Amino acid sequence: MTAILTNPLRVGLRQERVISPQCLVIFGASGDLTHRKLIPALFELFRQRRLPSEFAVLGCARRPWSDEEFRQKMEVALADEVASHRTAWDHFAQGLFYEPVDLQQPDHLVRLSQRLDGIDRLRATRGNRTFYLSVSPEFYGSGCRALAGAGLLADPERSRVVIEKPFGRDYASAQALNKVVQACAKESQVFRIDHYLGKETVQNILVLRFANTIFEPIWNRNYISSVQITAAETVGVEERAGYYESSGALRDMVQNHLTQILALTAMEAPGRFDPEAIRNEKAKVLQSARLADEQEPWKCCVRGQYGAGGTPAHPLPAYRQEPGVNPNSTTETYVAMKVAINNWRWQGVPFYLRTGKRLPKRLSEVVLTFREAPVHLFDAAGGAPTPNQLILRIQPDEGAEFKFEVKAPGSGMRSRPVDMAFSYDESFGEPSDEGYVRLLADAMLGDPTLFTRSDEVEAAWRLYTPLLALIEESPWQLPVHPYEARTWGPAAADSLLADDGLIWRRP
Ligand code: BG6
Repeated sequence: MTAILTNPLRVGLRQERVISPQCLVIFGASGDLTHRKLIPALFELFRQRRLPSEFAVLGCARRPWSDEEFRQKMEVALADEVASHRTAWDHFAQGLFYEPVDLQQPDHLVRLSQRLDGIDRLRATRGNRTFYLSVSPEFYGSGCRALAGAGLLADPERSRVVIEKPFGRDYASAQALNKVVQACAKESQVFRIDHYLGKETVQNILVLRFANTIFEPIWNRNYISSVQITAAETVGVEERAGYYESSGALRDMVQNHLTQILALTAMEAPGRFDPEAIRNEKAKVLQSARLADEQEPWKCCVRGQYGAGGTPAHPLPAYRQEPGVNPNSTTETYVAMKVAINNWRWQGVPFYLRTGKRLPKRLSEVVLTFREAPVHLFDAAGGAPTPNQLILRIQPDEGAEFKFEVKAPGSGMRSRPVDMAFSYDESFGEPSDEGYVRLLADAMLGDPTLFTRSDEVEAAWRLYTPLLALIEESPWQLPVHPYEARTWGPAAADSLLADDGLIWRRP
């Protein structure tokens, strides 16, 4: 059975706020993120008429491009969108500028300030600036220092800085980076970005939990027996070996994206819908989260690395054969782990997190499994009744699904599991914006709700410290288990749940 929970409102759902005149300055503008995510997101905002006419983008990087070269490179990168919206692009591209800048060179900062003043005059951007640090992470601290030194962060009302992930490599480096950043700007000016928080379905976790009365009373250890959070990808490391080799899945996906989903799933209700109230609750729950076994962390974590796979027609190389990867690499491309939350709501409920590259499906979801009925009155198909599950589908097929038992048709009284499903697409009929569309707009609006605060980011790193220390100091205790490409990861990850009498959901 599939019951579609329809929402009759198909129009007028968006409530947009107004972005003030401003210049968005992208450092690292020659990099991948700029043409793959940032410029497409800005062009989308432009086409949705959400950017003010007094708007400009200033791309900055070391390459000596001109404005025209920058525009052309962006046009080539966005060829399909440009072809479908030629006139809009021509208009949008007039607001794209480029300045060669090396943030480590004081005289470049002087030139940058002058260029920004010039753009203010040309585009009436009124000295409002959002600085986006899409540079290599080791330059986040020095980048902020350079901007502050040039006086570009002096006005907290008119300047903001957006910092990409990873914010630090571990607890100590995140703390140190927070100190540097906070010496340069007020916390209200700092936007630590995690693009998962820009996804509608991740935000929907809050609405589902706190706008309905039916979920909250059962959203706790009395009714929920376990939670699984999965972010599975089909892609491999692609062209990012240089970064990924020193990061691995734990730093690349778990510390940020999966931990943010965990925080939204497990946090208490905020007193009001206000950025600080929400971030207080997220920070609080992350501060109560621990690895399930901190003394022997190897017992609650499994690392894996993809091997070769695919078909004879489409063979897939092993991670160690990917361009730029060390042939003896021990970087993990898969992690599964068990986390505990030591508070009144969740004590005793295991949270299992898993993520991996080259898995069979691209899929992110949260699965809440409910406790079994205390007495089994009916025979169940398959021997035992399937526990009720609420599945929040983050991507693809955004929506939610509830699994419960019904009477199987026929003369007996056997039970059988069925699904009740809600699909964003079917209910709202319009595709969700890409995460960066929402997050860029929010940063330019100065709304920090969907950005990670300093204490959250530190709590997230602290949670994984025992594992990071183990990988650093005695990696043989947490070996990388090979798994065949396009399979669901190493068998050891199944044992992690089997030890608790559970299995991973195989969607
Ligand atoms: C990024 C990671 O943050 O998220 C990538 O660095 C990963 O390795 C990507 O592929 C996944 O994002 P999404 O939105 O495709 O799930």
